[in-house]
Amino acid sequence: MPISYNEQRRVFRLDTPHTTYLMGLVGSENFLGHIYYGPSVPDDNMEYLLRLEESPFTPDGNARERASFYDCFPFEYPAWGGGNFREPCLRVRDARGGGNCELFYDSHRVFQGKPALEGLPATYGDGCETLEIVLRDPVLELRVHLLYTVFEDADAICRSARIENAGTEALDLTAALSASLEMDAEELEVITLHGSWAREQTIDRRPLRPGRQGTFSQRGISSHQFHPFLALCEPTATQERGLVYGMSFVYSGNFLAQAETDQYRRVRAVLGIHPDSFQWRLEPGASFQTPEAALVCSDSGLGGMSRTYHDLFRRHLIRGQKKHRPALLNSWEACYFDFDHERLLQLGREAARYGIELLVVDDGWFGRRDTDTSSLGDWRVDLKKLPGGLTRLAEELADMGVKLGVWMEPEMISPDSDLYRAHPDYAMAVPGRTPTQARCQLVLDLTRKEVRDCVYDQISAVLRSADIRYLKWDMNRPLTDVYSPSLPPDRQGETAHRYVLGLYELQERLVTDFPELLLENCCSGGGRFDAGMLYYSPQIWTSDNAEAVDRLVIQEGAALLYPLSSMGAHVAACPSHVNGRVTPFAIRGQVSLTGCFGYELDLDKLSEEEQALIPGQLAEYRRFGPIFREGDCYRLASYRENHTYDAVMAVAKDKSAAVVSFVQVRSRASRRSLRLRLAGLEETALYRREDTGEVRSGAGWMRGGVLMEAVLSDYLGRLIYLEQVRE
Ligand code: GLA
Repeated sequence: MPISYNEQRRVFRLDTPHTTYLMGLVGSENFLGHIYYGPSVPDDNMEYLLRLEESPFTPDGNARERASFYDCFPFEYPAWGGGNFREPCLRVRDARGGGNCELFYDSHRVFQGKPALEGLPATYGDGCETLEIVLRDPVLELRVHLLYTVFEDADAICRSARIENAGTEALDLTAALSASLEMDAEELEVITLHGSWAREQTIDRRPLRPGRQGTFSQRGISSHQFHPFLALCEPTATQERGLVYGMSFVYSGNFLAQAETDQYRRVRAVLGIHPDSFQWRLEPGASFQTPEAALVCSDSGLGGMSRTYHDLFRRHLIRGQKKHRPALLNSWEACYFDFDHERLLQLGREAARYGIELLVVDDGWFGRRDTDTSSLGDWRVDLKKLPGGLTRLAEELADMGVKLGVWMEPEMISPDSDLYRAHPDYAMAVPGRTPTQARCQLVLDLTRKEVRDCVYDQISAVLRSADIRYLKWDMNRPLTDVYSPSLPPDRQGETAHRYVLGLYELQERLVTDFPELLLENCCSGGGRFDAGMLYYSPQIWTSDNAEAVDRLVIQEGAALLYPLSSMGAHVAACPSHVNGRVTPFAIRGQVSLTGCFGYELDLDKLSEEEQALIPGQLAEYRRFGPIFREGDCYRLASYRENHTYDAVMAVAKDKSAAVVSFVQVRSRASRRSLRLRLAGLEETALYRREDTGEVRSGAGWMRGGVLMEAVLSDYLGRLIYLEQVRE
């Protein structure tokens, strides 16, 4: 039983394979406090960590210092009011304008399985147990249903809250976060991911300071700039050692991921929808469901946390994980908007020549889309470019043995489009103001059903018009005019979240109606690369920056949380269209093959030597791709940290084989070889290194490692493959 309740001690206990999570009821009023989250402990009697004896403030014994109690008690789900001056999870404005809320334990139940979260992406699957604790505010008659799910095969706790108005008057939620964790701030550091367009998911680690620190988005998307994730770790934590806590948000819109260190050096880490851009009207009887937070605690460093997230997401979040991930050729950096039927067939022939399975026709095939200034919203084939439409293109490609994929940007509308001319009100705009354009485009008001239907009808018509196997769903701007005429003025605070719900509904329809389609999300690269989108698409375009050296850093950040199978990774044109760097074709190929591989350039323009490398790259992707995508991932070296070389290793789940991708970016100015200790192998099994024939035990490879020969050159790539020797 992974979940239990000790009635005598009034302690809730959740056990994952290697961690324990304890909460307890306190005092005659039944406050719910967070006691412990960390590596497994057999004990239930950990309530001393609540420090109630030390504190003179416990209301049962000292009613006159109730505010001080609120100021220091480790609430499991903190609400604003009563003296809780730290960041709350829940904030309410009641019918009289009052803002206080107090939550007390009401009831609980434990059940097998996990309920779906209505309208939201969330973890799912068998082999799990769920605890529902109901907290209640007796004045507002507000009930908070805290859900905690524990999967048998994942060291994670998946949390969310449903807030129900059981009273007789409407009220407004002005904050409804998903999770809070309380711990001692002593000796902790905070890790976040930050960046920009073409520089997404860069890892940052720093000491925890007094006050609030963390990341957020108010851009309507999870964003390039920050990531819906926060980790806290011991300062000594390394890749494979030390305690690390991760909080990942299964959501794709505005968020707050924050650690707050208080006057007692306690830290409250919260994760949820950003309260500054959120409000939700709760009519009597209505509920609000928060998105899910996936919590991980690893006692084996950052790598342990990453592998737990990879397993959790692959097994219990990503639908379509098992879908075939074809090597593809994408038209974008090969020809941008400048193509016609013949040019695409030429790309198709290039693909066919090498056995590349799929041609993706990126932006430019619809409306009058010769630049990025028009036609979003008009998802009809440009017959001047493609006289036979996508139908004929797909047929002619099929004759060559190449499948067709297309790009769309369904959430957008160009002011210069037939859709905008017919329905200008479909674009989000604040009344009386000209909406702000970004990349010449406006955002469709997905909160409205008629707008969603209009978009969906067009998407499904395109997908039905030809044999289309893959869709790249792009989204190329933040939300700036967050207003919807579908809501009254005093409920406009719901718009940003309703937009995300509208997006989720659209993608749900898509994956339901087109179960065979391979969906790849994209948001100017990785502007919405989050766990929420992974529920709908098993892969996401990681960054518009496909230049290999920058990509090492971006992919390291993405792999901190997400399995390599989720990363779109292409060999792009050179010099890089994004950073101008000239990186050898072989290195570009090697960096890409750890993700979902493709080419995004004109293969005919490559030199003969480069073209000669293509069959080998494709063969390596076919051979090693499954291990990278499905295996356990170990970061052996980080170019971001050492500025010289990078090494990532994947071990097949059954430990029968492993592959290391080593990239020396810069010459090391040393004649001595470099020692790289391997990881994750079975200690006693024997492994043969394919390129040298050496045989050694797993322990030998892990303790001794491999010696990477000194080569006085920038840009050196090595793939090392090890296979178990079976008697
Ligand atoms: C975005 C995407 C690119 C490409 C272009 C097309 O920038 O990230 O990969 O699809 O749009 O306009």
